[in-house]
Amino acid sequence: MTSQLSWQETEERYRKIFDAARDGILVTEDDGIIIDANPACCNLHVYMLKDLLGQSIEAIFNDECVSKLATLREEARSNGGYSQHVDCLNIRKDGSNIPTEIVAVMLPNHSHIRWLYLIRDISERKNMEFAHLSRINMMGQMAMSLAHELSQPLTAITNYLKGATRHLKEGSSDNEKLSEVMTAAIQQAERAATIIKDLRNFVRRGEFQLAAYDLNKIIKESMAYLDNETQQYHVKIDLKLAKDLPTIFVDKLQLEQAIINIVKNAIEAVRDCRQEHKRVLIETLAITNSHFTIRISDEGPGLSAEAKENIFKPFFTTKKHGIGLGLAICANIIEAHGGHISHTTNDGQGTVFTIDIPIDKRRLEK
Ligand SMILES: Nc1ncnc2c1ncn2[C@@H]1O[C@H](COP(=O)(O)OP(=O)(O)OP(=O)(O)O)[C@@H](O)[C@H]1O
Ligand SMILES: [Mg+2]
Repeated sequence: MTSQLSWQETEERYRKIFDAARDGILVTEDDGIIIDANPACCNLHVYMLKDLLGQSIEAIFNDECVSKLATLREEARSNGGYSQHVDCLNIRKDGSNIPTEIVAVMLPNHSHIRWLYLIRDISERKNMEFAHLSRINMMGQMAMSLAHELSQPLTAITNYLKGATRHLKEGSSDNEKLSEVMTAAIQQAERAATIIKDLRNFVRRGEFQLAAYDLNKIIKESMAYLDNETQQYHVKIDLKLAKDLPTIFVDKLQLEQAIINIVKNAIEAVRDCRQEHKRVLIETLAITNSHFTIRISDEGPGLSAEAKENIFKPFFTTKKHGIGLGLAICANIIEAHGGHISHTTNDGQGTVFTIDIPIDKRRLEK
C-alpha cells in the first residue's frame, strides 16, 4: 500500500475543504469569467452556483474592487502566487454591499493561468469600527459643545469681575453698582455649574435605586419643584391621574428628574402664549397592567421639523439660555428603566410627550 494520495483522493480532499470553508472561495479564468464558487461564496452573495458560473467577476465586485483585484493579481504573479489582502465592497444579487477582505492566489495550469480568490465577510468588524467611530465622533461633538457652552458664562464672569476691579481701582464707592455686578457674576458662575451638573447627570449611568412607589404621588411631588416657574409665568398645571395604579418599581429621583425636565419645557413652551393656552396637562394611565404611561401635553407653539429630529440629542436647544440637555437626560433615564419616550403633535396645538415604562411583573407577584 502506498502512502501517497492518489490524484482522485487529493481532488476529493480539496473539494471537501472547498465546500466546507467558511470563507468564500471563487475560481475564475484569467479573463475574470467565474468557473467555480464554494457554498460560502454563493451564500455571501446570495446567488445560486449555476447563476454565478459563466459570469464576469464584475457581477459581484464593484468597479473599484475590480481594479484592486488587478493589482492583487500583479502582486501574486511577482510574489510566488499569493497576494496580500485588501478590503473590498462586494455586491449581493439584490444590489446591496458587503464589506470583504480578499486575497488572490494564482493557479498556474499548463498553458494558462486561473485565479482563486479567498473572500472573507468583514461586515461585523466594520460595524464595530463604525460604532467606535460614532462614539468618538459624538464625544468630540459633546466636548466642542461643552467648551462653547462654558465659554459664554466664563467670558461674562471675567468681564463682570474686570468691571468690578476697575470700579475699585478708580476708588468708586458706588456699592450698589458693585453689588449688582457681583450678583451678575454669581449668576453666570451658577449657570456654568448647572451646565456641568447636567452633563454629569447625562453621562452618569450609575446604579439605579429601584424601589416601590405610587406613581401619582411621584407626579404630585415633582410638581412642587416647579412652583416658582408656574407662579412666575402664570401657567396652570392640570393633573388627570388614573386610579388604582399598581405599585411601580423605579428610581424615584431619576423619574422625578425626567418628569420635571419635560414639564419645565412645556411651561417654557406656553409661557409666552395667550392666557387660555398657558396650561399643561399631566396624565397617568395604566394599560393592561404591563406598563404605565405618563403623558404631558401643552398648548404651546409645537416642535419645528428640525426640533422633531433632534430634541433628544445632547446640546440641541432653540432657547437663548437653554443648554439642550433636559430631554437627552430624560431619554437616558427612561431607557435605563426599560421604557420609551416619544412626542407627537397635540390635537389642538402644542406638543405631547409620552413616557411608557414596563411594570415589573416579577416584583408585583412578591
Ligand atoms: N414642549 C415643547 N414645546 C416646544 N418645543 C419643545 C418642547 N420641549 C422641548 N422643545 C424643544 O426641544 C429643545 C430641547 O429641549 P431640552 O429640554 O433638551 O433642552 P432645553 O430646554 O433647550 O435646555 P435645558 O438643557 O435647559 O433643558 C428645546 O430647546 C425646544 O426647542
Ligand atoms: Mg429643557
